[in-house]
Amino acid sequence: MRPYVTINAAMSLDGRLALNTGEQTRLSSDEDMARVKELRNSVGAILVGVGTVISDDPRLSPNEDVVRIVLDTNGRTPEDALVMKAPPRTLIALGPTASMDAPEGVIVRNYPLDGDLVDIRMVLRDLGAMDIREMLVEGGGTVISEFLRRGLFDVLQVFVADRIIGGKAVSLATGEGAFTMDDMVDLEFVESRRLDGGVLLVYRCPG
Ligand SMILES: NC(=O)c1ccc[n+]([C@@H]2O[C@H](COP(=O)([O-])OP(=O)(O)OC[C@H]3O[C@@H](n4cnc5c(N)ncnc54)[C@H](OP(=O)(O)O)[C@@H]3O)[C@@H](O)[C@H]2O)c1
Repeated sequence: MRPYVTINAAMSLDGRLALNTGEQTRLSSDEDMARVKELRNSVGAILVGVGTVISDDPRLSPNEDVVRIVLDTNGRTPEDALVMKAPPRTLIALGPTASMDAPEGVIVRNYPLDGDLVDIRMVLRDLGAMDIREMLVEGGGTVISEFLRRGLFDVLQVFVADRIIGGKAVSLATGEGAFTMDDMVDLEFVESRRLDGGVLLVYRCPG
């Protein structure tokens, strides 16, 4: 059984996750940061894409028990990335032909592809087998888009900041996007809450 999947992100009012340079910017308010801290501490695993590792170099270690997962088809995770420093443990999910020298505490596994990317379903199956019950998807836009369009999530929590970035910056759902009405990702509204000057929106995956 796959873990319960929560997708969390902070975006500008126009749906952007970072600056137009790709550089990370703080979008969460203080109250939202506190909420995210609690959320990170409540899960058994936190997953990001290699794009986020390269651009933000996040530590992703709220405690020593969490498992960090990086989706990385071609083994692009830098050797000196903070996710390579254990503890906690890290699983680098590579494509079928990639390889990587990993330090102690870092597990490297090959997975089949779904299109050009690591097959998320197979990674989730493995995490289920590792007895991970709850997982947090922390971005970036490409990873969130892939989880959303495959319906591989339970809850989507988005903090909408009182700021606009504009331009072509990475969005909440980067990727090809919808070309027809059927391609759109439907969500079921759960609740909204004001946090400082922004709004937290919570949706669940329908069905
Ligand atoms: N505001 C927020 O909450 C927040 C949170 C996190 C990140 N960010 C921002 O998001 C940006 C990074 O987003 P991004 O879209 O460029 O990168 P990303 O979503 O972090 O990573 C995407 C990359 O992961 C690899 N990948 C492997 N398997 C995948 C799969 N099944 N699905 C999706 N990706 C897979 C692919 O690279 P390969 O083909 O090389 O494997 C893909 O290009 C940064 O600017 C960062 O600051 C914002």
